[in-house]
Formats: sequence, structure tokens, C-alpha cells
Amino acid sequence: MYKTHTCGELTAANAGQTVTLAGWVHRRRDHGGLTFIDLRDRFGLVQIVSDPEAAPEAHTAFEPVRSEWVLQVTGVVRPRPEGMTNPEMSTGEIEVAVSQVKILNPSKTPPFLINKEEEVDENTRLKYRYLDLRRPRMQANLELRHRVIKFIRDYLDKEGFLEIETPILFKTTPEGARDYLVPSRVHPGEFYALPQSPQQLKQLLMVAGFERYFQIARCFRDEDLRGDRQAEFTQLDIEMSFVERDDVMNLMETMYTAMAQELLPHKRLLTTPWPRLSYKEAMQRFGKDNPDMRFGMELQDLSGWAAGSAFKVFEDALASGGHVRAINARGLGGYSRKEIDALTDYVKDFGAKGLAYLAITPEGEERSSFSKFLSAEKLAELKARLDAQPGDLLLFVADKPEVVFTALGRLRVHLAEKLNLLDPDLLAFCWVIDFPFAFWNEEEGRWEASQHPFTSPMPEDIHMVESDPANMRGAQYDMVLNNIEVCGGSIRIHERELQSRIFKLIGLTPEVAQERFGHMLDAFEYGAPPHGGIASGLDRLVMLFADEQSIREVIAFPKNQAARDVMADAPTPADEQQLKDLHIKVVAAK
Ligand code: AMO
Ligand code: AMP
Repeated sequence: MYKTHTCGELTAANAGQTVTLAGWVHRRRDHGGLTFIDLRDRFGLVQIVSDPEAAPEAHTAFEPVRSEWVLQVTGVVRPRPEGMTNPEMSTGEIEVAVSQVKILNPSKTPPFLINKEEEVDENTRLKYRYLDLRRPRMQANLELRHRVIKFIRDYLDKEGFLEIETPILFKTTPEGARDYLVPSRVHPGEFYALPQSPQQLKQLLMVAGFERYFQIARCFRDEDLRGDRQAEFTQLDIEMSFVERDDVMNLMETMYTAMAQELLPHKRLLTTPWPRLSYKEAMQRFGKDNPDMRFGMELQDLSGWAAGSAFKVFEDALASGGHVRAINARGLGGYSRKEIDALTDYVKDFGAKGLAYLAITPEGEERSSFSKFLSAEKLAELKARLDAQPGDLLLFVADKPEVVFTALGRLRVHLAEKLNLLDPDLLAFCWVIDFPFAFWNEEEGRWEASQHPFTSPMPEDIHMVESDPANMRGAQYDMVLNNIEVCGGSIRIHERELQSRIFKLIGLTPEVAQERFGHMLDAFEYGAPPHGGIASGLDRLVMLFADEQSIREVIAFPKNQAARDVMADAPTPADEQQLKDLHIKVVAAK
């Protein structure tokens, strides 16, 4: 037995006991002839003291010991002297007076500090991930991730769900990204695709009568990576039979509310029940289908007000079918010209041609990029519409609706960051529903399902598949937390005939549909039950719960931004024989 206790569990109640501990040297200090070592294991820290007079052999053994060495120590627990207790540490009332030391393994000096948060280049962290993960913050993140998954498993088990694994080597499952392909050795020239999600398999489990399925599922998508996107990520994947949209949403809402209350007592839910917004309302109020509801600064439609203003920027946008919308950034009325120019550059990145403004200093002085076009009445009307007060900055974008929404939607969040309105301890969950079923893909000249092609149109819109796809709504729902989409799901198609009509709408010939998705179409002919489900991005959820900015902080071994594992250095070239076995010839990229 290496240890009688963990480093985190000793308290004054253990005083007088002889204990054996094992762990890493977190910190070493020498003073007054004594050596102090904070010994760390996963469960906490404890102070070890060595006294050259009381235990000369142990003291000598400590001499070479440095940070991150692995030790086993035996000693007696005693209260710390008056004034030396540390209320920050769970073991802060005691220390262990060492009598025996065994060095289990020395350590080279780590490339960065484990015992202190410091700015370290991310690739260095990822290269030495096994050291990075020793840091208390990373240990806490992975523990939280475990708690979240454990909560979900226990909760869904009580609700009658079964956890069922589905294959990793499968066939293309379109979720809008590129597939990762795996060549088959036994079938020359043929490939498996890694699942972008278990979508088709979970639907087939419904056809198979499982009724309530879930899985903590790994998904693979070859797409450009960013802070909330990895090539390989984890979903809580759920599917249910004999349900309507509200049944799925209510299950998730109740589960996630209970989870947040149990696991994050220091955080507060903004509203219960959660708001449900139509896609249209989300766009009009927030400019995004993943609206951050922690603060106001909502978009206002000023198209009516702007008509006839003689300001060419507004007039031109309206004349070509666009909108004029604005937000009121309270507290930024004192912004300089230079600061407003920086905001203008920011919106230009999202396609806006400019950013018109009206700034009111805290003293009430007004500056505007279109003041000469403003009559006293128009100005009064504008200020009333936007509830403008001294100290406010009104910002306008005039353009096609998509550009106006994207530019102001992003700007709203950008300004909220500057104004410190994004309280990480506030959990603003909401649902977005009634998405357009499909959108027109200009490049490919065809309709594309806005979620995936297995989503059903809303029942009352099914008659529009051929006649009016542009206005058809999908039976889908997204769950948003703060600024991020954390779940997406839908009621599915369960009839062959409707599924075929949708495949046709998105441009698949009956032959291609049968070749790619024949297993789904065939299954629907054998009594497929009505069904629906949802999938939640667990990495994103845990990232938000842990107040992190990137999902890489809550994944043990993530890829870097360039999709490389920099620790193991993957991907790597395959050797000649492997390629030969797989019937693959690599042509050097230009
Ligand atoms: P969707 O594609 O919306 O739906 O994915 C569900 C959730 O997974 C998360 N997510 C990601 N997280 C990290 N990295 C990525 N690359 C990534 N892509 C998606 C998001 C998203 O909300 N089969 C459907 C679900 C269903 O209809 O039941 C699906 O996969 O949080
Ligand atoms: P200009 O007439 O281009 O000098 O622009 C006058 C003001 O209108 C400047 O503050 C521009 O940033 C702003 N502006 C230009 N185009 C737009 C637009 N499409 N929407 C909103 N403001 C704009």
C-alpha cells in the first residue's frame, strides 16, 4: 500500500496519527533550517515539514528533491503552530512532521510552472499535456466534465433510457461537414466514414423498438477548427419514440436545470422556464440564432423611421430591399471618433459597408455621422424609439437583412464584452424554434436542409415541400446557453414517402438516395414509429460551466487549431507496406 490517506483529507481530527502519503512536490521552501514541502495528489495539498534535528535521515533525503518529484513520506500529523494555519487549504490546520522519505521518481524541471497559473504558449501546453493536466485548474475542469456526464447517465437511467453504443466505422452521415474516411483493407478501394453524429443509427434504434436511447457519443467532422469546434468532439445523443417537439425540449430543459442547480450552486439561472423564441424573433431582436439573453441592447428596426430621411446611406439600402436597424450602447456616448472607427472596422469584417452613429456625451452634447439630415422632429422620434439618454451611443447599419443582422448581432456581443455585461455566473438558457426548413445554396443551385435531411418539416407545412420550400418551417429546435448553441435536434421523418420527397427537394436522385440512404428508406417501410431527438455538445456545455473560452480546456487530449495532436505528433505519414495493404497511393500535394 503506497498511502494510508490522500493529501487532501487530513484535518485537526487526525492529529497524533502516523500517516503515509504519496504524491508530487508542489512547492518547496527552506527556512529556519527546516524544509517545507507541499505534497500534492489529485485530492489536495498537505504541508510536510522536515526537521534536521528530529529526523536527520529524512532531512538529508529531502535535499535533492525539487518540484514535481514523486515521493512517499511517513510522519506524524500535528497541529500547525499558532498563527501558521492557512484557511485557504482544506488541510491548512495541520502539517505532517516527516520521519521517513522514499523518492519514487525524480522529475526534470517542467517546461512551465505547475503550481502557478501563468501565460504559456498553447502548443507548449499541448505538447506536454500530461504536465498541463496536472495543474489544479485542468484537474477541476476534467472533474467537472466527469460530474456532468455522471449526472446525465444517472438522470436518463431513471427516466427509462438505455445507453447503446453505435459503430465508429460506418457510412457517411451528413451533418454539414466533410467526412473522415477510413480505407478498407479487405475491400480494395472502399472506405468507411467516421460518423459526424450517430443520427441515422439512433433513428434505426427507434425503428428497432428501443423507444428511449442515449449515448455519450464521439463525433468526427473535418471542418475548420476554432474555440468551440474540434474535429473530434462529444455529444450527449438522445432519441425518443412517440414524442412531439415539446416532449424532447421539456426533458432536456428539466434535466439541464436540475444539473445546473446541483453542479453549479454558485451560478444562477436567468429564467425558468426558459424563453422559447422563433428563429425570426431571435434574428430581429438579437441578430443571431444563438442569442445571448444576459443583457439587453436589442436591435431596433428603424426602416420606417429612416424612409424619406434624405440620408443616402439609409435611402439606398431601403431602395434595394434592405433594412435600417440600430442598437443603443448605453454608457459609450463618450467614445472618441477613433473608437467609433474601430467599431466600424469591426462591422466591416461582417460585410457591413459602414456604421452610422449618434453619440450623446454624458453632458448631453450630440455628435452624429448623419446630423445634417436630421430634422428636430426626426431626431426626437429617433431618441424616443431607442430611449436615448445622455451617455448613450446609437449605432446603425443599413444593408441587406442578412448583413444587418450579422453585423449588429456580432457588434452587440462585442460591445457587451467591453461593457462587462457578460456575467459568467449567469446561465441564460433559451430555445430557438421554427427555423426555416431549407435554404437555397446559391453555389450548388439547390435547396439544402438547414439542419439535416432527416428532420421533418412542421406537420402543417408538409404540403409545401414542392410548392413553397422557402417558407416551410422545420420541426427543429436549438438550445442556446449564453452565447453558444449547446444542443440541436428535431422531430424526424418516419415515412418513406416523405423522406423521398425531401431527398428529391435537396437534389438527390432516387438512385443516389437509395445508394446512400437505402437502409433508412427501407427501414421506414417496416413500421417505423414517430420519433425525435436531440444532441448536445458536451464540450461546449462543460466549457461554459467551467468559465473557459475554448473547448480545448475541457478535453483531455485535444487537437490544436491546425487539427494536429502535437503531443504524439499526429497525423503522420504511413509506411509503404501499410499503404500497399490498403491499396492506397499517395500523390505528393503541390
Ligand atoms: P448538430 O450538428 O447541431 O446536430 O450537433 C449537435 C451539437 O453538437 C455540438 N457541435 C460541436 N461541438 C464541438 N465541435 C464541433 N465541431 C461541433 N459540431 C457540433 C454543438 C451542436 O449544438 N445529429 C444532430 C442532432 C439531432 O438532430 O439529434 C446533430 O449532430 O453544441
Ligand atoms: P459616407 O457617406 O460613406 O461617408 O458615410 C457616412 C456615415 O455613414 C459613416 O459614419 C459611415 O460609417 C456610415 N455608413 C456608410 N455606409 C453605411 C451603411 N451601409 N450602414 C450604416 N452606416 C453606414
